Amino acid sequence: MPYDHTPVMLARCLEMLRVRPEGFYVDATAGAGGHAEAVAHSLKGGRLLCLDKDPEALERARARLAPFGDRVLLVRSDYRRLSDVLAAHRLPGADGILFDLGVSSPQFDDPARGFSYRFDAALDMRMNPEDPLTAREIVNTWPQSELRRILFDYGEEPHAPLIAAALVRRRAEAPIETTGQLADIIAQALPAKSRRRPGHPAKRSFQAVRIAVNDELGGLAQGLAAAIGALRPGGRLVVLSFHSLEDRIVKTALADAARGCICPKDLPVCVCGHTPALRILTRRPLTADPTELSENRRAHSAKLRAAEKL
Ligand SMILES: C[S@@+](CC[C@H](N)C(=O)[O-])C[C@H]1O[C@@H](n2cnc3c(N)ncnc32)[C@H](O)[C@@H]1O
Repeated sequence: MPYDHTPVMLARCLEMLRVRPEGFYVDATAGAGGHAEAVAHSLKGGRLLCLDKDPEALERARARLAPFGDRVLLVRSDYRRLSDVLAAHRLPGADGILFDLGVSSPQFDDPARGFSYRFDAALDMRMNPEDPLTAREIVNTWPQSELRRILFDYGEEPHAPLIAAALVRRRAEAPIETTGQLADIIAQALPAKSRRRPGHPAKRSFQAVRIAVNDELGGLAQGLAAAIGALRPGGRLVVLSFHSLEDRIVKTALADAARGCICPKDLPVCVCGHTPALRILTRRPLTADPTELSENRRAHSAKLRAAEKL
C-alpha cells in the first residue's frame, strides 16, 4: 500500500522520544502510521499504543502496523481520553508520547472529506465523522462576529471582516453547501490585490473553519494535560505543531507544567504547593533541516517541542 503522508521530522522525533526497545510508547495521532511504524521498528519486547479519532486514518495505520503484531495496539479515540484508554487496557505509565498535530495528507486528499478547496465536495471537514459539528453548519449558522473571530484567530486572515460579511450575505440567499462555493465566496470577498498574492485565496479561511470544526485548539490543551499525566518519571513528551496558535498552546502547557510555585508574585510565602512536573528539553522549538524542507512541503511550518517528566 503506498503511504501518501511523509512523516515530518521523523529522526528528530525518535531522538527526542529516546525509544527504548522494551519501553511503552503512545502515538496520540497515528494518522497514516509513519511515525508509529518507525517507533514500532525500535521495539523489542516493548509496546506502542496508537490513537486516532478518524476511523479511516486508524484503519490505514492498522494495515501498515500489522507486521508488528501485538506489539502495537490501535484504539479509535480522541487523545483527550488518553487516561481512560490506558486504564481500560491496563497499560502502564508511558515512556514517551508523540503528538503530530493537524490533518494528514490522506484526509486532505480525499475529496469526500470536504477538507480541501482543491475539490468540490460537501462541506464537512470532520476528522471524526460522528462529531455533530460540520463546516456546513459553521458557515451557515454561526453569527457573523463568530465567523470573523475564527477567521482572524484560527486563520490569521487579515480580511476576516470582509469574508464573514460575504458569508452572511450569501447564506441569506441560499445555504452554502460545498467547498467550491465556499472557496468562491472567499475569493470574491477579497480585495483584488490580495487575490493576486501567491497561494490559494481560501487557504487561511479553510484552515480556520477546519480548526473550529474539530475544536483543534481546545482539544490540544486537554490532550497535552492528559499526556503529561500519563507519562512515567523520565518519560518524554514530543509535540509537532504546524501553526503559531498550536505552538503557543504547546509552549504554554509545557512551561506551566515545568513551573514550581504558581502563587501570585506578591504573596510572601508559597501557598500553592505546586511542584514542577516536567523538564523542558527544547528551550526553542526545533525545525526541519534544509534537506527535509526541500523534500516535504508540510515540514515548512513544523515546530517540535519536547519535555521530560520529572
Ligand atoms: C498529521 S496526522 C499524523 C500523521 C502521522 N504522524 C504519520 O506519520 O502518518 C494527524 C492525525 O491526528 C488525528 N487527530 C487530530 N486530532 C485528534 C484528536 N483530538 N484525537 C485523536 N486523533 C486526532 C487526525 O485524525 C490525523 O489522522
